Amino acid sequence: MLYFFHAKRGHLHQITFPLMMSVGTAVIGSLQFGYNTGVINAPQEIIERFINETWEQRYNEPIPENSKIALWSLAVAIFSVGGIFGSFSVGLFVNRLGRRNSMLMANILAFISAVLMGFSKMARSWEMLIIGRFVVGLYCGLSTGFVPMYVGEVSPTALRGALGTLHQLGIVIGILIAQIFGMEVIMGNDDLWPLLLGFLFIPAVIQCALLPLCPESPRFLLINKNEENKAKSVLKKLRGTTDVSADMQEMKEESRKMMREKKVTILELFRSPLYRQPLIIAVILQLSQQLSGINAVFYYSTRIFKKAGVEQPVYATIGAGVVNTAFTVVSLFVVERAGRRSLHLTGLLGMAGSAILMTIALALLEQLKWMSYLSIVAIFAFVAFFEIGPGPIPWFIVAELFSQGPRPSAIAVAGFSNWTANFIVGMGFQYVEELCGPYVFVIFTIFLLIFFIFTYFKVPETRGRTFDDIAAGFRHTAAMAEKHTPEELNSLGADSQL
Ligand code: GLC
Repeated sequence: MLYFFHAKRGHLHQITFPLMMSVGTAVIGSLQFGYNTGVINAPQEIIERFINETWEQRYNEPIPENSKIALWSLAVAIFSVGGIFGSFSVGLFVNRLGRRNSMLMANILAFISAVLMGFSKMARSWEMLIIGRFVVGLYCGLSTGFVPMYVGEVSPTALRGALGTLHQLGIVIGILIAQIFGMEVIMGNDDLWPLLLGFLFIPAVIQCALLPLCPESPRFLLINKNEENKAKSVLKKLRGTTDVSADMQEMKEESRKMMREKKVTILELFRSPLYRQPLIIAVILQLSQQLSGINAVFYYSTRIFKKAGVEQPVYATIGAGVVNTAFTVVSLFVVERAGRRSLHLTGLLGMAGSAILMTIALALLEQLKWMSYLSIVAIFAFVAFFEIGPGPIPWFIVAELFSQGPRPSAIAVAGFSNWTANFIVGMGFQYVEELCGPYVFVIFTIFLLIFFIFTYFKVPETRGRTFDDIAAGFRHTAAMAEKHTPEELNSLGADSQL
């Protein structure tokens, strides 16, 4: 049995088997997201060849270069478009079906896309490949909402950050598996690439088998469904103790305060002064994750390394995946000690420093050949600092910043912002790089510094605080700004939602 020591409270917190099983099963969804982010990188030329051959069979002429580029870019980018739609729809499911059943249901999309992509070669249809990428994007968009929400709601307060980081760990392991499977000797070749893309079928089967054994979120049962006994028995299993009165008390308190905001729609979220501050923080933190430039590295690292004169760029890319995974584990172990705020700040500043190093390396490459080594060091450092804070924290902090009523809508808006920014960087990077040459990372440096200043002044620490306490903090800030007492504002906020 594993124990975590939470220094601030002086408690030994038990990580029970049911808790690990629930979180472990949920983050299979995160793994799928990472896998499908990374899988398309290595086999680019092979799949382009398939598109070309199919075109020739249909039209008896080779594919024009422009059409090939367009079809390929579409296959890559439509994944994020699916993600934008999926993440925005999270609220439609979680309150009706519950958190666990929403995750279960989403697997239908994983199966459909696995079949579409896995059989696209056999059917000689790039259309199936492109539609499959869109459908898996929908699935991943939903997962990036469902998973942090479920994990945040089943975790004990003192472990919410560490367990929340497992979502990111699932993502980075997914990316790494995709990078390794995508090597030519494994599945990144003419014969096996359909298997590489259809592989998501297997984690989907595993998740479908395990989810029915996992409990529904106790917060959902008590606050949304008013099923006190069920909530209690789930909590007893998760916490591994019969005395769950403290947890029950806290949830009831939240439930009582939130009586009038059982469900907050996205429109109401934007209107109410109560949620303004946490909403701005949630969205900006998501932007800080994506506009840091991390996916410029994950989508184009092989190309960047090649330009920097690295001889075996594919191995350098896998190296980046390994560093990525290792530092997510570091964050997992320090997040409950160092806190979210300081880790996010450290990560942003470190990334900015690494981006400057990267720029120097690229700019001096012509004169000094050894700069190619510096570029590897700079990219590894960039990725390492990302995983210290800006990688994991934005994903799970949104669930922490909002109480039960507004949580689904807030997660939808945050996810939408994340996926949209992801799409913009993915599409725009190549063009901006052509314009700026070696100075392209200066743009990310400026963003990183702006986000650093914002985090320093605006983001509160949420470590070790209950959901209710965090919400109360924001009520207080909003009340000060609007010159009302927190109670007045509470009823004002609630009225505006009726
Ligand atoms: C985060 C980002 C994702 C990125 C990954 C890299 O999860 O959301 O876009 O690819 O980290 O580790």
